[in-house]
Amino acid sequence: MRNALISGIGHHVPDRVVTNFDLEKMMDTSNEWILERTGIQMRRWVSEGDTLSGLAHSAAIKALEMAGKKPGDIQFIIFASLASDHEFPGGGCFLQEKLGIPGVPAMDIRNACSGFLYGLSVADQFIKTGMYDTILLIGAEIQSTSLDLTTRGRDVSVIFGDGAGAAVIIPTDNKEKGVLTTHLHADGRFANKLWADAPSVNDNPRISKELVETDRIYPKMEGRFVFKHAVSRFPEVIHEALAAAGYSKDDLDLVIPHQANSRITEAVAHQLRLGMDKMYSNIERYGNTTAASIPIAMSEAVEQGLIKDNSLVCLASFGAGFTWASALIRW
Ligand code: COA
Repeated sequence: MRNALISGIGHHVPDRVVTNFDLEKMMDTSNEWILERTGIQMRRWVSEGDTLSGLAHSAAIKALEMAGKKPGDIQFIIFASLASDHEFPGGGCFLQEKLGIPGVPAMDIRNACSGFLYGLSVADQFIKTGMYDTILLIGAEIQSTSLDLTTRGRDVSVIFGDGAGAAVIIPTDNKEKGVLTTHLHADGRFANKLWADAPSVNDNPRISKELVETDRIYPKMEGRFVFKHAVSRFPEVIHEALAAAGYSKDDLDLVIPHQANSRITEAVAHQLRLGMDKMYSNIERYGNTTAASIPIAMSEAVEQGLIKDNSLVCLASFGAGFTWASALIRW
């Protein structure tokens, strides 16, 4: 069986920079509070004319370029996002149209912050079985347009950002390289600890004037509950990947955790007894970009030379669902 290799990686974020000071003008919050609790200094939010499939397309073109491939080489698209350009169909079809490759299958994955790793696991299986030879995996998110930008929603709104990352995945016969192992988990008992209650298909009608005036349409989070679970699940799933592939944490060149919160990343590093130099972080510049956070971080780490040929990299996620996941990659 072949291994799945990431042969190209790229990212794209919207131009509009929104600092904590900008948020101070919208709601009762402060740069100090946001920085101290989350590590975030700024995030990118979309402007008029930006689209989810457009962000994904820009990231995809960069990943294809690095892989030395053209859109016409793609055999399968996996599109991880909470959202789509429209209520339906899923975002993969809108991206496929932009890439100009009609007929190529497009699968949508909706596992929030773990979406990219769920997608990577699916890509890994399709490569291993020989079903496809060139897969485009996307993690893309526009969160900013769904946030409650009043003081009522401040605990959630200050955290999230927009962006996209893309990976081109191909087979290799080298068993030491590429995706060595993936691990996926979910626990729906905690779905309502981090969610948007509405619009819900269980409401009839699904959308009403009354609904729009409530806060049910905005993302909600029990921050402390989420934090507590995140700091246990991250180390657990990283250890799971290391054990499955027969490595120890000392073999790791880099951990790319989902960029949830810098305090979570620090707590995970502490539990793993890893220095912060082994934990990639860009949350200070982008906030939490949900499914896009891992591929954006991986793309930057490659650009910065932190991931090189042969680097052993662990990707790990935790988020809404709850879902959590990991992958161990030999670059
Ligand atoms: N600005 C200023 N004050 C804020 C605020 C904001 N943006 N958001 C909340 N507060 C206030 C609260 O109203 C509360 O005030 P009170 O004490 O008068 O009631 C106070 O700050 C403390 O709120 P609390 O929610 O207990 O803070 P916290 O220390 O738990 O930090 C989070 C909040 C969200 C930063 C923290 O819980 C967290 O990081 N959770 C994990 C979130 C996460 O990573 N989610 C994504 C997972 S994918």
